[in-house]
Amino acid sequence: MTVKVGVIGTGMIGQDHIRRLTEVLTGSSVVAVSDINKEQVEKIATAIGARTYTDGVALINDSEVDAVVVTSWGPTHEEYVLAAIAAGKPVFCEKPLATTQEACLRIIDAEVKHGKRLVQVGFMRRFDTAYRQMKDVVESGTIGAPLIFKSVHRNPSVPPSYTSDMAIVDTAVHDIDTARWLLDEEVKAVSVIAARKNNRGGTLRDPIIVLMEMESGAIVDIEVSVNIDYAYDIGGEISGETGVVTLAERNRITVKSGGEYRGKVTADWKERFVEAFDVEFKEWLDAAAKGTATGPSAWDGYAAAVVTDAGVEAAGTGNRIKVEMRDRPALYA
Ligand SMILES: NC(=O)c1ccc[n+]([C@@H]2O[C@H](COP(=O)([O-])OP(=O)(O)OC[C@H]3O[C@@H](n4cnc5c(N)ncnc54)[C@H](O)[C@@H]3O)[C@@H](O)[C@H]2O)c1
Repeated sequence: MTVKVGVIGTGMIGQDHIRRLTEVLTGSSVVAVSDINKEQVEKIATAIGARTYTDGVALINDSEVDAVVVTSWGPTHEEYVLAAIAAGKPVFCEKPLATTQEACLRIIDAEVKHGKRLVQVGFMRRFDTAYRQMKDVVESGTIGAPLIFKSVHRNPSVPPSYTSDMAIVDTAVHDIDTARWLLDEEVKAVSVIAARKNNRGGTLRDPIIVLMEMESGAIVDIEVSVNIDYAYDIGGEISGETGVVTLAERNRITVKSGGEYRGKVTADWKERFVEAFDVEFKEWLDAAAKGTATGPSAWDGYAAAVVTDAGVEAAGTGNRIKVEMRDRPALYA
C-alpha cells in the first residue's frame, strides 16, 4: 500500500522529511504540502507534484491525505495534531509535541478518547542502531540493573538566536527522552549545574549538566555543550550493577600515521542521525499503513515537556525541582 502523506511546514526539517518520503523510502507519496510561506511551498509542491495549502487544517481534511507530518514551528503543533486526531489520521509530529504541558495533555485526552494511537513524536534517537543495541543490552540483563546513565550532547556552535533555555528545551530534550526510553522509567527530579562559561557562547549558560534522578534511584547526567567547536559529538554510557555499556565511536575507518591514530567525528546532527531518521519514517509509514502509530507517543511528548519545564526552573532557580506527572493512561502502557 502507498501511504499518501500531507506535510505541514516545509522549512529545514520538513524538506528533509519530504526528500526521505519521496526519494529514500518506498511505500509513500507526498500528495499535499502546506506552509505559511507561499513562495516556498509552491516551489516544493511543483518539484514533487503535490497540492498546496496555506491552511494546515484544510490539508489534514483533504480526503486524498491518509497521514500527516507536522514540521511547522512548535507553537503550531497542538492545533494540527488535534485536527489529525479529529480526522482519525495517523500523524508524525516533530518535537515538541506541543509547547506547554497543558497542550500535551489536551492531545493525550483527544487520543485516549479516540481509543487508539495515532500520534508519533519525532524522538529519532530511539531508531538509531547503536542506541537500540544499548537498549537490548540493558534489557538482556547483561550489565545488571542500570545505576548511572551518562549522556553527552555536544554541538560545534549555535546561532545568535539560541537561548540558554533552548539548551534544555531543544537540545537536552533528546537526551531526556533517550534516558526515559533506555531505562524504561520516569524522571523524579531535575537539577541543573552550569560549568565555568565557554566564552565562545557569549552570555549563554554553556556548558551545563542536567542531573536527573529517576524513579528507581538511578542517576542520569547529561552534558550539554553547544559551542564546543570541534564537531557534533554524541556519547552515552550506562553503568549497571555488573557491567557497563558504551556507545562506540562511529568511525567507519581509523587512520594510523605519524605515531597517531585518527577517526572522523560527525559534523552535525543530520549526519549523525541520518539513518535513524530513515528508520523512524519507515516504521511510521508501516504503522500509518495500518491506520495507527507506534514509537515515541504523545505520552512521551508530554513527559518531555514536564521534564524540560522542570529543567528550565531548576536552571533559573538553582533548586532541585520535583517532576509531577499525571497518571499514565492505559493507551500508553
Ligand atoms: N528531531 C530533531 O532533531 C529536529 C531537528 C530540527 C527541527 N526539529 C523540529 O522541527 C520543527 C521545524 O523545525 P525547522 O528547523 O524545520 O524550522 P524551520 O523554521 O526551518 O521550518 C518551519 C516551517 O514551518 C512553517 N510554518 C510556520 N507556521 C506554520 C503554519 N501555521 N502552518 C504551516 N507552516 C508553518 C514556516 O514557514 C517554516 O517554513 C520544530 O518543531 C523543531 O523543533 C526537530
